[in-house]
Amino acid sequence: DVVDVRGLTKHGFFTYDPGFVSTAACESKITYIDGDNGVLLHRGYPIEQLADKSDYLETCYLLLNGELPSPEEKTEFVDIITHHTMVKESMSRFFRGFNYNAHPMSMMCGAVGALASFYHDAIDIHNPEHRAISAHRLIAKMPTLAAMCYKHYLGQPFMYPNNKLGYAENFLHMMFGTPCDDPEVSPVLAKAMDKIFLLHADHEQNASTSTVRLAGSSGANPFACIASGITALWGPSHGGANEAVLDMLNEIGSVDQIDKYVAKAKDKDDPFRLMGFGHRVYKNFDPRAKVMKETCAEVLEELGINDPLLAVAKRLEEIALEDPYFVEKKLYPNVDFYSGIIMKAIGIPTEMFTVIFATGRTVGWIAHWNEMLSGELKIGRPRQLYTGHPKRDYPG
Ligand code: ACO
Repeated sequence: DVVDVRGLTKHGFFTYDPGFVSTAACESKITYIDGDNGVLLHRGYPIEQLADKSDYLETCYLLLNGELPSPEEKTEFVDIITHHTMVKESMSRFFRGFNYNAHPMSMMCGAVGALASFYHDAIDIHNPEHRAISAHRLIAKMPTLAAMCYKHYLGQPFMYPNNKLGYAENFLHMMFGTPCDDPEVSPVLAKAMDKIFLLHADHEQNASTSTVRLAGSSGANPFACIASGITALWGPSHGGANEAVLDMLNEIGSVDQIDKYVAKAKDKDDPFRLMGFGHRVYKNFDPRAKVMKETCAEVLEELGINDPLLAVAKRLEEIALEDPYFVEKKLYPNVDFYSGIIMKAIGIPTEMFTVIFATGRTVGWIAHWNEMLSGELKIGRPRQLYTGHPKRDYPG
């Protein structure tokens, strides 16, 4: 035992690293990031190539299994996911208990955790087959639950998944379709949606993935673990940033207001930050932001939308890339910077943005959870530096 300056005993030594800036909590074979050079690889494949040549479900297979699927394996995987898209009918009663204007992320935290109550048959975390079924169920049901959040908010009937449609297409159908209409989803929008899911699929040990691993390290069930990831994602410093970016762009409103906001962001006494800029790991362009920017331009052109917010976003990016404050601190646009403009063009309300991030990220969370459980399981238990009172006696 070591006695520290406050006279307290501590067992052995440990590092003090607030924010885990330089502490690796695990080994992983899933995703590699080189933040200085703006490189992101999933199982070795660059994100730009996956965004260009692959699709979301194929990337899910890659993240879960370590290799790209053969055509037969891909067909089988897509069939399995499609088979699991429905949720139990009683989930709709569960949703009706939420206030109509509840934030969709609050509904997702509850709804995804509640999935555990339906799947006692396959919840043994030590059984690889059970883990695989849970992974498939979660990936398949997230879009259904996400669309239910939106329908509940609108007061419209919930839409059942239509399993003739592709993954992203089905999601847009459940979001914007009604039981009165035939499914009709623009292929351009479905492709853009698929790319948004793909670009969010995994990002190694970020706050939400680390939360999933920590929750999973105690042996908690996968639905509870993914619900914990959703809660961690919600904050504006993480997944909540995409909603905050659009709010910020709306507040700036026009290019001539940008200087005022840049000055606010640089003012140490002002808590305002340029949302969508900066990253703990990337000290260069976030490669996902580059793809997102291109997709954004394609979608707006295809839809014939001339969104003034795009002009604000582009100018803001130019200024930030030239301004010494942002250059010195290496604050580049991150994945959230352009995704909001695309989602707005698709017709998705801002409150749903982080839900969509959570939907895409589910595969990453579950791949990390599965990787952790496939190895030697050790409960995560960070230490602390106690700075409170030394031992004292209760008065009297
Ligand atoms: N605008 C203005 N200044 C910023 C910004 C920003 N967006 N981001 C960081 N800074 C400044 C900080 O004030 C700090 O300055 P200092 O060294 O003079 O004190 C310096 O840059 C470093 O910032 P930290 O907060 O210490 O960096 P950290 O790695 O802890 O935080 C984070 C990274 C949270 C992403 C931060 O850059 C941020 O708040 N960005 C805006 C929110 C955002 O876009 N989040 C999404 C991240 S991507 C994702 O999760 C999907």
